[in-house]
Amino acid sequence: MRAVLVGPPGAGKGTQAQILATELSIPKVSTGDIFRANVSGGTELGKKAKEYMDRGDLVPDEVTNAMVKDRLAQDDAAEGFLLDGFPRNVPQAETLKTMLADLDSKLDVVLELRVDEEEVVNRLSGRRSCPECGRVYHVEYDAPQAAGRCDDDSAELYQRDDDREETIRHRLKVYRDQTAPLVEFYEAEGLLATIAATGPVAEVSERAMAAIREKA
Ligand code: AP5
Ligand code: ZN
Repeated sequence: MRAVLVGPPGAGKGTQAQILATELSIPKVSTGDIFRANVSGGTELGKKAKEYMDRGDLVPDEVTNAMVKDRLAQDDAAEGFLLDGFPRNVPQAETLKTMLADLDSKLDVVLELRVDEEEVVNRLSGRRSCPECGRVYHVEYDAPQAAGRCDDDSAELYQRDDDREETIRHRLKVYRDQTAPLVEFYEAEGLLATIAATGPVAEVSERAMAAIREKA
């Protein structure tokens, strides 16, 4: 299974990617997580990405595309993957298509998670993330068992630098301008499935699995 999750910041892509990837037995490939790991590790890639991420802008395509190409060439992605946060604009989608065609492969499904903008701001301002495993929580809607600690590895949760209200608003604008056109792009390719990403996390996962199975 080769699948992509598309949706605005805070739609629950990371939350669902973790659950769906386990359910489908495929690796989750999150460009945001890879960038953040590089920023905290102080790598060259992290240095290139940081200023864009802090502003809520997209990291330039040549940097992002090269990183994804490397990641998808790893053995664990040979049989399938779930992309979270990539592609993010039409040129990235074209690049992905070419990358896969070169491997005699193609996408099976693109799942769009729909949620309105006020809900996004609520979700992101209460989000807490695990620096060890990347799992995301919400102080109210999806709280960890022990306050401030990851259920899986007990690491101390942190709040992302780009989850300040003005940066959230800017990320939403970037989504509307640059990422939302992907919905039409993938609809035209016959790959799009759309679900409402509101309600309890487990219900969204059920809807997502049903939509993926129907399409792929
Ligand atoms: P990235 O990390 O991809 O951020 P994003 O797209 O803004 O998405 P988020 O991670 O903010 O939200 P999400 O949809 O994953 O929601 P989550 O599950 O966490 O990208 C960050 C930056 O990296 C970009 O701005 C850019 O600079 C760069 N970048 C990344 N990819 C790139 C690319 N391809 N090209 C160029 N640049 C790129 O959930 C949010 C909160 O809601 C959590 O607290 C969660 O617990 C809660 N929640 C989830 N589901 C529910 C529910 N059903 N009900 C209630 N609360 C819920
Ligand atoms: Zn963790």
